[in-house]
Amino acid sequence: MEIIVLPDADAVANAAAGIIQARVERGPAVLGLATGSTPLGTYRELIRRHREEGLSFADAQAFTLDEYLGLPADHPESYRSVIRREFTDSVDFADGAVRSIDGQAEDPEQEALRYDAEIAAAGGVDVQLLGIGTDGHIGFNEPMSSLASRTRIKTLTEQTRRDNARFFPSIDEVPHHVITQGLGTIREARHLLLLGLGEPKALAIAAAVEGPIAANCPASALQLHPHTTVLVDAAAASRLEHTEYYQYTHAQKPAWQRY
Ligand code: PGA
Repeated sequence: MEIIVLPDADAVANAAAGIIQARVERGPAVLGLATGSTPLGTYRELIRRHREEGLSFADAQAFTLDEYLGLPADHPESYRSVIRREFTDSVDFADGAVRSIDGQAEDPEQEALRYDAEIAAAGGVDVQLLGIGTDGHIGFNEPMSSLASRTRIKTLTEQTRRDNARFFPSIDEVPHHVITQGLGTIREARHLLLLGLGEPKALAIAAAVEGPIAANCPASALQLHPHTTVLVDAAAASRLEHTEYYQYTHAQKPAWQRY
């Protein structure tokens, strides 16, 4: 794991956008996109680079990470809608290049299998952007998710429903169930990019990065991945024990070493 502690959210967005840009410019890329507040700065920066610097996504494909079960695709809070509104509609992905899970599929279990197969058919994900829940979830893999899990239906914890209630008129409207890429699915992406912003994420980041690999903190599964970059602001890093070492490593990073 490479852990990069940056001063603030803008610096995190800038660094994440740089990593995604580098991959997109290397040739046809499959991006894994996350929703939630955390990646919004990264998306804004990528849109800016598209508009002002000619960064193009014309050869890229994208897969969203998860979806609420039961929300119509055109519901403003479906992750299919959110990712289009916040990012993909503002750049130049080709028609049909942004794929998401159908939260209203007649057979959700079949839909989950179909989605894993669709990712595999695209050649797998090159760079997977991830936020982290206050309970350590990635995607919607809540605590005690199998570290080998595939895309499937999950039940949200009440904490996650409360965390996400700000996007809905009331908590009663936050769905209880979701379809999410599994931890095993996520770990098949070639490069994982985990972002953490703000003090509320500090304990989850510390558990994910420095705690034991345990289903109790699903993000700790990333420790098993050979290429994970963790980008955190100072507040989200505030419970880490080895911040000085991470900063030293980053300051000494040779120019030839990739992200
Ligand atoms: P947030 O959510 O980015 O809105 O904090 C992250 C998550 O729940 O994965």
